[in-house]
Amino acid sequence: MTYNLLKGKRGIIFGALDESSIAWKVAERAHAEGAIFTLSNVPVSIRIGKTNELGEKLNAKVIPADATSIQDIENLYTESVKELGGKIDFILHSIGMSLNVRKGKPYDDLDYEMMSKTLDISAISFHKILQIAKKMDIMNEWGSVVALSYIGAQRTMNGYNEMSQAKAMLESIARSFGYFYGKSHKVRVNTVSQSPTFTKASSNVAGFDGMYNYSDKMAPLGNSSGEDCADYCITLFSDLTKKVTMQNLFVDGGFSSMGMSMELMNTYGKCLESE
Ligand code: NAI
Repeated sequence: MTYNLLKGKRGIIFGALDESSIAWKVAERAHAEGAIFTLSNVPVSIRIGKTNELGEKLNAKVIPADATSIQDIENLYTESVKELGGKIDFILHSIGMSLNVRKGKPYDDLDYEMMSKTLDISAISFHKILQIAKKMDIMNEWGSVVALSYIGAQRTMNGYNEMSQAKAMLESIARSFGYFYGKSHKVRVNTVSQSPTFTKASSNVAGFDGMYNYSDKMAPLGNSSGEDCADYCITLFSDLTKKVTMQNLFVDGGFSSMGMSMELMNTYGKCLESE
């Protein structure tokens, strides 16, 4: 079902790599709700992934940008405003990469050069995207900027490694920048904290299957899928959430409020009996 929630709105969507990407689902949903937008990704991902395929399908121009490069972001904004014919109403930051996780480095033996690149790609890029948008004045009043996060920002999750720090910083940037952008341009800034989802990025996390199953069994509504997350992002881009800003909002089937579920207690009990 569609509701025309984004009719007449212009956006920029970062991070659609392939059909499993959460940004891919957001782009499909935004298109269905009447938005026009550009798609962006880092050049290497455009080459090896399917961003161009999505662009053709949704009639969206693909503009390459490394989200750590100020020059690339400036160019993306100039091109997007030109292509879409006016100022921007929404931006999705769906970007994450951990170099230490990729190289299999454990949390108590991190490489700090790699960690600083991880923070730049996964968190500081969000600040750059916001700061450059504000300086270039590309957003309409009541615009909305959303970045995707994970509960590993607040809780220790085995295998999530340095991404915990990246997500904690990402969520903090939404709170800090939301103040400045709200005051100056009435632009809202939020993070959406999503359940574990099978994508290219998550395939690098050690023991990801276990994380997925555990939270699915813990959450009363089960894990939120990429499509569920996209639905929620659309509401945050719409005019129905104009006064929601500086928040970290969970779309996780209730996982973040749980302590123990009957299902997991039973599973744990059976494991103890069989020992
Ligand atoms: P994905 O691998 O499909 O998307 C990650 C994207 O980041 C890719 O398109 C990649 O090309 C892009 N990227 C990497 N470096 C970049 C750079 N320097 N500049 C611009 N783009 C760059 O994976 P997924 O899962 O859709 O990730 C999207 C977001 O959702 C990430 O922030 C991730 O941390 C977050 N998230 C993912 C969850 C999961 O379990 N998959 C759970 C909660 C949050």
